[in-house]
Amino acid sequence: MGVSTTINGISVLVCDTAEAASEATAKLIANQLNANPRCVLGLATGGTPLMTYQSLIAMNQSGQCSFQNATTFNLDEYVGLAADHPQSYRSFMNDNLFSKIDVPIEQTYVPDGLADNIAEHCSQYEAMIDRHGGIDLQLLGIGHNGHIAFNEPGSDSQTKTRLVDLAGNTIEQNARFFSSADEVPRQAITMGIATILKAKQIVLLAMGSGKVDAVNAMLLGEVSADVPASFLREHPAVTVVLDRDAAAGLGIDTTRKMPTEQQTT
Ligand code: PGA
Repeated sequence: MGVSTTINGISVLVCDTAEAASEATAKLIANQLNANPRCVLGLATGGTPLMTYQSLIAMNQSGQCSFQNATTFNLDEYVGLAADHPQSYRSFMNDNLFSKIDVPIEQTYVPDGLADNIAEHCSQYEAMIDRHGGIDLQLLGIGHNGHIAFNEPGSDSQTKTRLVDLAGNTIEQNARFFSSADEVPRQAITMGIATILKAKQIVLLAMGSGKVDAVNAMLLGEVSADVPASFLREHPAVTVVLDRDAAAGLGIDTTRKMPTEQQTT
């Protein structure tokens, strides 16, 4: 249940809790799978999608959706971590989703953080997405600094899959997954903004008061490389799903009873 509205061309759904926002996001993904079982999903890592993945696992295990014929492409991977490193994004996806659903693992793609020739690997990754017909639904989180995937501030809208340096505040944020900030890799392979904007549908999930500034900048600020998520306003089919805490700066009254057309159950 939540309140839906449109801000600068983006559909915004505000749910009462993080659990409800995650559930709503999982339902959008399940709907995509049910509408087109052979769909191509773009997937994300981090704290944000965890509850969404738990909902999808439950739906998959109870027969409400199947990943058997789906293909997945992840947004990014740390450079220098082997696939089986516990903090690699490949491990994250295997542990938190792929090993618990019916997707054949060979239909799941995550950039290779140990690729010998990173530039070549990036262009192959981009080409592989195209060869599969492009991404039907891309799931995104947003960084405190407004990044999407590892497209840090300064990334322009033409960027493709490439090697990037992580911003200092991203390293600090992600240190919670490592024993110390020193262990966080300094570089990553990431889909670019242009890669993400090629997806047919995009769902960005943000939860918690820590994301208020980034959400405000994305939806209400200038469209600019300073806030890479703001480029989503150039895409025709984006849904931003928020909990009340993340939506707190948008001036949406989530307590008042909204007109029927603005209510979503
Ligand atoms: P988080 O990261 O889900 O761990 O908050 C989101 C992001 O950096 O895109």
